[in-house]
Amino acid sequence: MSHAEVVCGDLLLFDGNPTRDPWQETVRIATDGALLIEDGVIKSIGAPRDFPDLPRHDHRGRLICPGFVDAHAHYPQTAIIASWGKRLIDWLNTYTFPEEMQFGDPKYAAEIAALYLDLLLAHGTTSVASYCTTHPESVTAFFEAAAERKMAVIGGKTCMDRNAPNGLCDTAQSAYDDSKRLLDRWHGRDRARYAIAPRFSPTSTPEQLRALGDLWAECPDCLMQTHLSEQLDEVSWVRGLFREARDYLDTYEAFGLLGSRGVYGHAIHLERREIDRLEEVGAGLVHCPTSNTFIGSGLFDMRLSRRIKVGLATDTGGGSSFSMLRTMASAYEIGQLCGNALHPAELLWMATAGSAGVLHRGDEIGTIAVGMAADLCILDLHSTPGIAQRAARANDVWDAVFPTIMMGDERAVAEVWVAGSRVRAG
Ligand code: GUN
Ligand code: ZN
Repeated sequence: MSHAEVVCGDLLLFDGNPTRDPWQETVRIATDGALLIEDGVIKSIGAPRDFPDLPRHDHRGRLICPGFVDAHAHYPQTAIIASWGKRLIDWLNTYTFPEEMQFGDPKYAAEIAALYLDLLLAHGTTSVASYCTTHPESVTAFFEAAAERKMAVIGGKTCMDRNAPNGLCDTAQSAYDDSKRLLDRWHGRDRARYAIAPRFSPTSTPEQLRALGDLWAECPDCLMQTHLSEQLDEVSWVRGLFREARDYLDTYEAFGLLGSRGVYGHAIHLERREIDRLEEVGAGLVHCPTSNTFIGSGLFDMRLSRRIKVGLATDTGGGSSFSMLRTMASAYEIGQLCGNALHPAELLWMATAGSAGVLHRGDEIGTIAVGMAADLCILDLHSTPGIAQRAARANDVWDAVFPTIMMGDERAVAEVWVAGSRVRAG
């Protein structure tokens, strides 16, 4: 039975991409707006008086955002987030790989998947593109936990057949077979979508990269997600392993792993040819600011977003937070270090529509518009005394929003909706 409800508050609305065009022309906050929600979808947008006599959720003075979309994370790293003292390769070997070994156990995988997705919802994140581990069990656990919560997610088996512990390695053939079987089972099932996922070129042989490139060619509407040029030591390692490659991107391109549905995490130390090729094919990049500082990788240049689609992500557990608010704050700080102060309108767009676009889900999530899923994150802009006193002195709506972006945490997340149901009440 269909059940209509109205959610009232200040609406964050997008008319374009503020990282390409001026934010004044592309992003608006409609104060005292209202959303009519029915069958999990936004049916109409107006003012509270347009929808009389319907059950009403009054969030006047709060900011109603699309649910946050985390464009790159590793749910199996939940338990090792904030592990001290290592840079990328040592961090993988010391903390990440031993933890990921446990995900062959379906019970453990299910426990962490549930814990992780509940943490995301508490932080206002309603969609995520997550790596799993090499174990097919970890993929099943992730998609089952997401389906229970009606969340639109992207996931896939991480493929590795070298330079990792034996217990985490597959082969070229088993990576192809397992990915294909999982993809057939999950891709397009309700709100689940599959991403073919070679971890990164140092942990795949050319044979495995080729096998996954072939699989992508057979299933071209899947995404392909991987890591690219995250840390300088890693780039040198790749150069040594793939002597014939022109650059890091070429280690994917040569095996059929470059395309418009390709999503490349980090992308910090790019060469000119790589940037040109990524733009030419319409691929997407993902900015992972808390990870890039936490693991000491470098500063992603957001000016790339003028040419290439860019999403925003926590990169849990290389990233040091589950929160997209904290991630926006970190993106702002990195922008400042690069001489590019990102406007709050840009930051909020990156965390929602920008990420959804990179993940090719922009027709369903990431924007408040008629026909879009009713996945919402409702922000209290006065959630702590420190934020409240600053917001009270704000000159305009954006000046009132910015303190929550910079200082907010899950206390700022007043209410969360997934597919038209309130999953966390304020
Ligand atoms: N590169 C390859 N694997 C990983 C990972 O798990 N996290 C990060 N940050 N970078 C990677
Ligand atoms: Zn990652």
